[in-house]
Amino acid sequence: MNVLVIGNGGREHAILLALKKSKKVDKLYCMKGNAGTAEIAENVNVDFMDAEAVKAFALANQQIDYYVVTPDDPLAAGIVDALESIGKRCFGPRKNAAIIESSKAFAKDLMKKYSIPTAKSATFDNYGDALEYVRAQGAPIVLKADGLALGKGVLICKTLKEAEEGLKEIMLDKTFGKAGEKVVVEECMRGLKYDPGEEVSVLAFTDGKTIVPMITACDHKRAQDGDRGLNTGGMGTFSPCPFWTDELASEVLNNIMIPTMNAMNAEGRTFKGCLYFGLMRTPDGMKVVEYNSRFGDPETQVVLPMLKTDLMEIFEAVTDERLADVDIEWESGACVCVVLASGGYPLAYRKGEEIKIGDVGDCTVIHAGTAIKDGRLVTNGGRVLNVVARGIDVEEARKKAYAAVKNIGWKGMQYRTDIGVKYREG
Ligand code: AMP
Ligand code: GLY
Repeated sequence: MNVLVIGNGGREHAILLALKKSKKVDKLYCMKGNAGTAEIAENVNVDFMDAEAVKAFALANQQIDYYVVTPDDPLAAGIVDALESIGKRCFGPRKNAAIIESSKAFAKDLMKKYSIPTAKSATFDNYGDALEYVRAQGAPIVLKADGLALGKGVLICKTLKEAEEGLKEIMLDKTFGKAGEKVVVEECMRGLKYDPGEEVSVLAFTDGKTIVPMITACDHKRAQDGDRGLNTGGMGTFSPCPFWTDELASEVLNNIMIPTMNAMNAEGRTFKGCLYFGLMRTPDGMKVVEYNSRFGDPETQVVLPMLKTDLMEIFEAVTDERLADVDIEWESGACVCVVLASGGYPLAYRKGEEIKIGDVGDCTVIHAGTAIKDGRLVTNGGRVLNVVARGIDVEEARKKAYAAVKNIGWKGMQYRTDIGVKYREG
């Protein structure tokens, strides 16, 4: 099969690396890709937010048998629907199911209606009503812009003053544009053992009939060590999650995952693809923080290297709704991903800095924001490279990853030095 992956980041490079190992795959393509994807796939320069352009490309390139749509924006824009309308086979949810991520208000209503455990919340499209509710609830409180906002539309407000300012920013100043037309005001959840509360990302394959969780991962959203600094797209991940147990796995499968799949079916919005559960362990059990309609970035970079089963076989089984027939197996041990970012990220940063990569041992260097300019590898985004290491445990993988990081550099490169140390006490 010839397979095209839509997206430009580390996640897409990681998916291509996993597909490259598949016995079923001949040639790989990436739309639009980066310097890393270009090493294993043919990069295609088509705007993947333009449904007509994507369809025209697919019609002109009948040698491509299968499309994997990964980023949130094209999923929310209905690129899977567009490709299916011309008979193409895809991995990824249709637009009416991708709403589980693209509208937080939809996700909260769904959980309320089907009794799926999550933080108590209320949704508003009117500033006055929202302000009254926030004042009645008091701080701490969480404000979320309803729509897609590059992972930046969530404000954790410690004081009422912060909450009032945040509400003004989202609803009156429209900092997040249309994404902030509605706002979800949510109870601030506490963790069972840690503050801020302990979180785990569990990605799951689902064809609408069966849902199969992948190995767990923990993300690091803040820019600086010790979970300080601004929120980012993710500064590193490790797998598996240290506090995960068989008991938690069955609690999550039975109380959250299966009910979510059934709820989407009952709403006439069958979800097929990768459904991402962002979860918090609280004194009242596991609760949903957020759903994503896709593989997480940078969770994918630590999850897929642990997958033993042929990824293409799983993708096709999801498309054909026979996931129950596939035995999905995982490697033992652990995996760590350290994100190397441009100086200044997540605020303004420079592009075009030359990247030097020396000896990285048996680590994998996954590309995110990179490009080739005048024959040189240069930075081309906020998150630039992901150094991925496997080991017998998280500590061994962590040491390997940071040893490799020492041999990589460019002007202004920044990264966190504490990926993989949290939640050690379980
Ligand atoms: P989200 O984009 O919904 O994942 O939110 C970003 C981050 O904000 C999450 O990963 C949590 O760390 C935090 N967060 C979101 N909602 C809550 C909540 N209700 N209580 C506590 N923390 C939250
Ligand atoms: N790592 C979180 C996300 O992909 O949204």
